[in-house]
Amino acid sequence: MKKILFVFGTRPELIKMAPIILRMKQFPEDFEVCVCNSAQHRDMLTGLLDLFGIDVDIDLNIMKPDQDLFDITSGLISAFKKDILQVFKPDWIFVQGDTTTTLSAAMSSFYSRIPLAHVEAGLRTYRMDSPFPEEFNRRVCSLIANRHYCPTKTAEANLLREGVCKENILLTGNTGIDSIYWLLSNYDEQFFKQNISNKCEAIGELIENGQRIVLITLHRREHFGSTFLNIINAIKTLAENFPDVSWIYPVHPNPNVSVPVKEHLQNMPNIHLLPPMDYVSFIYLMKLSYFVLTDSGGVQEEAPSLGKPILVLRETTERPEGIEAGSAMLAGNDPDCIIDMATELFTNKKLYQKMSGIQNPYGDGNAAKIIVDDLKKSSFKNVT
Ligand code: UD1
Ligand code: UDP
Repeated sequence: MKKILFVFGTRPELIKMAPIILRMKQFPEDFEVCVCNSAQHRDMLTGLLDLFGIDVDIDLNIMKPDQDLFDITSGLISAFKKDILQVFKPDWIFVQGDTTTTLSAAMSSFYSRIPLAHVEAGLRTYRMDSPFPEEFNRRVCSLIANRHYCPTKTAEANLLREGVCKENILLTGNTGIDSIYWLLSNYDEQFFKQNISNKCEAIGELIENGQRIVLITLHRREHFGSTFLNIINAIKTLAENFPDVSWIYPVHPNPNVSVPVKEHLQNMPNIHLLPPMDYVSFIYLMKLSYFVLTDSGGVQEEAPSLGKPILVLRETTERPEGIEAGSAMLAGNDPDCIIDMATELFTNKKLYQKMSGIQNPYGDGNAAKIIVDDLKKSSFKNVT
């Protein structure tokens, strides 16, 4: 019996950790599972826990409005020492991705000499400032982790180049793709439609009317300030140039995002600013949209499963696979470039069709099974 502690704290961590938690819980004779929510995100997690049917064993209740990186890191590291590691005494700690929760749990595992498994290991831009602070967080995790679950061959090659021992790496696919498959196979069109109409009547009506939709998300810290204003001005110009399109934008609750977005975009008749959407509605809206404008990591991975072209509103991406496969284009932060690329997607049918028909390079829905099978192997040795 292995004692496994799962730690997550933000929306994407839960979406990507859920398939592993649910799978592991199917083997109570092999694993004792403890679920820890740092609650780095609060409102953005609540409905998700219900959707996946995951009960939290430990809630660290860390979130406060307008928190900074010092608050989250220091609060979490002392919470891990006091409340968790000395009480539950896990054999393994599982973290996912590159958030401050991930970093803090990884550092705590190192201090307490408990083996660390890192899910979605090996993503890199090789630019410490982009994304900030995520590139640092994931590199620290790679220094600490004893088991590295890589979503793609590119991620695996990054770790090998950095000197990580091959025996400690496993190619799995991204667990976020497991979640999207789970969602699409468990619920039918009628459920998705009803759910979105219940949650947001106005969007339900747009869908009923067959409106052409572009979906937008933005939240990266390195954009805050003038770069962010450049991007939202590009969105404003696009909405003016394409008045028949509905630009649907669930706005991240971080005040560095929500304040300028409201100030600059709220009076545009065809831009719909919404609170963060529940995962079910968001995926359905992505399925119905014409294309997606985003700086999100997870959304870059999900869109090809729904046949949606992506314009990545960032200078770099640690997910080059979508660009290489042809489902995504790196639009950067420059407003003219964003406007040109989006306009091209509306006008160049051949390009649009090509970008819509790409097989998802990020996974095939089996990542959680591969990870749990790996940990079940009794012969598994921890090579450092
Ligand atoms: C965090 C992660 C980022 C990840 C993103 C996913 C870090 C440093 N950043 O960024 O890697 O891509 O989550 O969404 O770990 N807020 C709420 N309610 C919520 C969540 C956030 O009001 O449920 C507001 C709060 O004012 C909070 C702010 O958003 O202070 C920022 O949240 P934080 O977790 O610090 O950073 P994110 O930008 O969400
Ligand atoms: N997502 C969601 N509602 C939204 C926006 C995004 O459920 O309003 C989901 C999306 O499907 C993806 C994840 O949140 O699974 C991505 O999270 P985010 O963009 O916040 O973080 P990142 O992936 O960039 O770390």
